[in-house]
Amino acid sequence: MERTFLMLKPDAIQRGLVGEVIGRFEKKGFKLVGLKLIQVDRALAEEHYKEHKGKGFFEPTVQYIMSSPVVAMVWEGKNVVAIAREMMGATNPANANPGSIRGAYAMDISRNVIHGSDSVESAEREISLYFKPAEILHYAKAGEEWLSE
Ligand code: TYD
Ligand code: MG
Repeated sequence: MERTFLMLKPDAIQRGLVGEVIGRFEKKGFKLVGLKLIQVDRALAEEHYKEHKGKGFFEPTVQYIMSSPVVAMVWEGKNVVAIAREMMGATNPANANPGSIRGAYAMDISRNVIHGSDSVESAEREISLYFKPAEILHYAKAGEEWLSE
């Protein structure tokens, strides 16, 4: 089954949005298979955002992600990578649909509540940055039979 890496950024933890945002993915029907509260260090922050190295927002983004704990998660489900991106909304909350997470809860691109992998390949890379294989769990979830034929 497809997996994605989602991370609740420091603003989500500081603003008390952890339950709200996790609840959206639970209610959609995705399965939580990995979860931890961590303090990101510089090496991990730079590795996470390495595709943006050299851009003006790289250093502020790295600093920001290290500024307070984050919630790192792995979620599983059909087309979860693309659907989670849709649920998150546009990178800039000012342009995000108000029904999306960023559209509902954020105002500024530098404090946009959540990170989500942008492709299946990114998801594999990001999951392995944040999780050891043994930290990703396999289990049957009650009600799965009601989500699809
Ligand atoms: P990006 O990968 O383009 O967005 P997304 O998080 O939607 O995949 O950028 C990574 C993060 O960098 C983004 O969530 C917020 C920050 N950022 C800025 O602060 N300013 C910018 O102009 C951009 C493009 C991103
Ligand atoms: Mg991105």
